[in-house]
Amino acid sequence: MSKQKKNCKIRAIKPADYPALADFLAEPPSREVVEKPEIALYIDGFGSQKGDIGVVAEQNGKIIGAAWTRIIPGFGHVDDDTPELAISVLPEYRNQGIGAKLLKQLFTQLAQKGFKQTSLSVQKANPALRLYERMEYKTVSENGEDVVMVRELKKELQSYGAGLGISFGLLFGVVVGVITDDLGLWIGVGLCLGIAVGGGWYAVDKRKKK
Ligand SMILES: CC(C)(COP(=O)(O)OP(=O)(O)OC[C@H]1O[C@@H](n2cnc3c(N)ncnc32)[C@H](O)[C@@H]1OP(=O)(O)O)[C@@H](O)C(=O)NCCC(=O)NCCS
Repeated sequence: MSKQKKNCKIRAIKPADYPALADFLAEPPSREVVEKPEIALYIDGFGSQKGDIGVVAEQNGKIIGAAWTRIIPGFGHVDDDTPELAISVLPEYRNQGIGAKLLKQLFTQLAQKGFKQTSLSVQKANPALRLYERMEYKTVSENGEDVVMVRELKKELQSYGAGLGISFGLLFGVVVGVITDDLGLWIGVGLCLGIAVGGGWYAVDKRKKK
C-alpha cells in the first residue's frame, strides 16, 4: 500500500477543525451548495448538540478526510436518537482505505457516547454504497434515487462494555483476592464476570425493553 496511507492518522475532531468541515460537505467543494439550508444543517453550529461526533484523517498536519454525525432533520433522518452520517475524503486520497478507517473509528466514538445506531442517505448510483454495505449498513427505506441506511452499533457497544467490565473486574478481583489471599483465582473470576456483564449490558437495546 502507498506511503500516503501509512502516514495518515485518524483522530477525534477538535473545535479548531469545525470550519474545515465545509470543505468536505459538497462534491466538488462549493460555497453556493454549502449555504443551502438543507445542506448547511450538516455543519451549522457543529459541536453544540449531543449527536455532534466526528473524526478526521490527518496527514502531515493537513485534514484529508472527515466523517461526522448529527441528529438533524436531514436526508437520512430515521429518529431523534440516531445521528446521521456525513463523510468525505479528498479525491487524491480515495480508495486507500481511509473512508473505512474513518467509519470504524466513528462507530467506536458513537458507541462510547451511548448511541445504538447511526444512519445515512446515499444515492443508489454513488459508489460509496458499496463501502457502506461493506461496513454493515443495512437499507431501511428507498426514495426514488436515494436509499436510507442504518448501521447498528451492537458490536462496538459490546466491546466498549467488555472493556469497562475488564477494568471493574480486575479491580474487583484484586480487592477480593487480597482480602481472601487468593489473588489468581479472584482476578480470573473478576475478569470473566466483568467481560460477560459489561459486554452484555452495553449490547442490549434498552429502548426495545420498554
Ligand atoms: C465515499 C468516500 C468517503 C470513501 O472514502 P475512501 O477513502 O475512498 O474509502 P475506502 O478506500 O475505505 O473504500 C473505497 C470505497 O469507496 C467507494 N468509492 C470509491 N470511489 C468513490 C467515489 N468517487 N465516490 C464515492 N465513493 C467511492 C467504493 O465503495 C470503494 O469501494 P470498492 O472499491 O469496493 O467499490 C470517498 O469516496 C468520497 O469522499 N466520496 C465523495 C463524497 C461522497 O460520495 N460521500 C458520501 C456521500 S453519501
